[in-house]
Amino acid sequence: MSSLARKHILLGVTGGIAAYKAAELTRRLRQAGAEVRVAMTAAAQGFVTPLTFQALSGHPVHTDLMDPAAEAAMGHIELARWADAVLVAPCTADFMARLVQGEADDLLATLCLASRAPLALAPAMNPQMWAHPATRANREALAERGVTLLGPAAGEMACGETGEGRMLEPEALLAGLAELFETGRLAGRRVVVTAGPTREPIDPVRYISNRSSGRMGFAVAEAAAEAGAEVVLIAGPVALETPARVTRVDVETAAQMHAAVMKAVPGADVFIATAAVADYRVEGVAAQKIKKTGETLELRLTRNPDILADVAAREPRPFVVGFAAETERLIEHAREKLDRKGLDLIAANPVGEGQGFDTEDNCLELLWAGGQRSLPRARKSRLARELVAVIAERLGAETGKVIPLKHRTP
Ligand code: PMT
Repeated sequence: MSSLARKHILLGVTGGIAAYKAAELTRRLRQAGAEVRVAMTAAAQGFVTPLTFQALSGHPVHTDLMDPAAEAAMGHIELARWADAVLVAPCTADFMARLVQGEADDLLATLCLASRAPLALAPAMNPQMWAHPATRANREALAERGVTLLGPAAGEMACGETGEGRMLEPEALLAGLAELFETGRLAGRRVVVTAGPTREPIDPVRYISNRSSGRMGFAVAEAAAEAGAEVVLIAGPVALETPARVTRVDVETAAQMHAAVMKAVPGADVFIATAAVADYRVEGVAAQKIKKTGETLELRLTRNPDILADVAAREPRPFVVGFAAETERLIEHAREKLDRKGLDLIAANPVGEGQGFDTEDNCLELLWAGGQRSLPRARKSRLARELVAVIAERLGAETGKVIPLKHRTP
């Protein structure tokens, strides 16, 4: 499966003759399994109509910052948050200059400013414009900020000149875009991730569980695999597809999850506990369905093993990352868990009505001894990639190894 499968790609099209190639690019992105939304500048619409991109992407094209109908359907901040990556293809010299200035005078420029997703540009311009010191300074400034430049290629141009400035072909752009996700940050590492809820049986037909959907943990497993790690995902009962290149072990109860983790963790470099493990299980599970006899029913609960604390207590042990789901005093409670369980890092998330559990979005507060980083609200896939980048950075710091960072945090 391509690493672009299920990725949300925001394709920006600016006003150059290569805009026609962006139509084929849209088709190829969708073929690779990506979801594509297109934003066009006014100049781009002089070359190709929004209708072309609407037909190819399957979604209305975004053209205007001040369009109340488009804003009502999917506001520009929502669109910026939606994107796993932003690719501007073709990207004109003018748009590069505007990005350097941080201008937000049209929709596409605003989206580039508003999105935390990695930004890639496919420059397309006349060779003299590409070679001009102003453009050179602009591309250096953008590269310095972590923007990825894909191309341009050399060859014959629409203007009749030959030289560097042709937009890369769609296939090369697809490969370059995929590399934004395939960071190699955890290459050669073994990572064990827990995800989802556990189910603690009461009788053969009933159980105690929680609202975890597994989305956060599956996103973490996918991000770690994309970063080059060998990943074992130990999952409670969830209805999610296994991410590509991830080995999945299905469990139901906390005790089963504990056993599966203890089997997988020897030799692991990183353990990430995103699962919402039941703290208690029912004592003496009934062999037959419990009958409705009295007005009340008492269940006696007994403590489950703490999987995270047990992994942290191992010697030798992996780099141990816990999650903290809190309804109040987020930082204080998370720091207490970090210290009490002896973790290397904790990702704290506020939970409750519409937050954390069973949602598409989340926000995380990362804490470690002497450090803290906020990951503001975003899709769980994006947060997972940011978390993996921080883990790779911290892991490098812990082991003294330098992990080459090919790109900025995707
Ligand atoms: O699955 P989603 O719908 O996407 O929701 C994501 C999430 C909200 C479940 C996730 O982001 C999250 O916060 N996971 C941890 C939930 C939790 O149980 O937190 P806790 O504060 O109760 O536990 C602290 C840590 O100890 C967690 O890393 C947990 O996995 C671990 N733990 C807890 C109890 C136990 N017996 N064994 C454990 O390993």
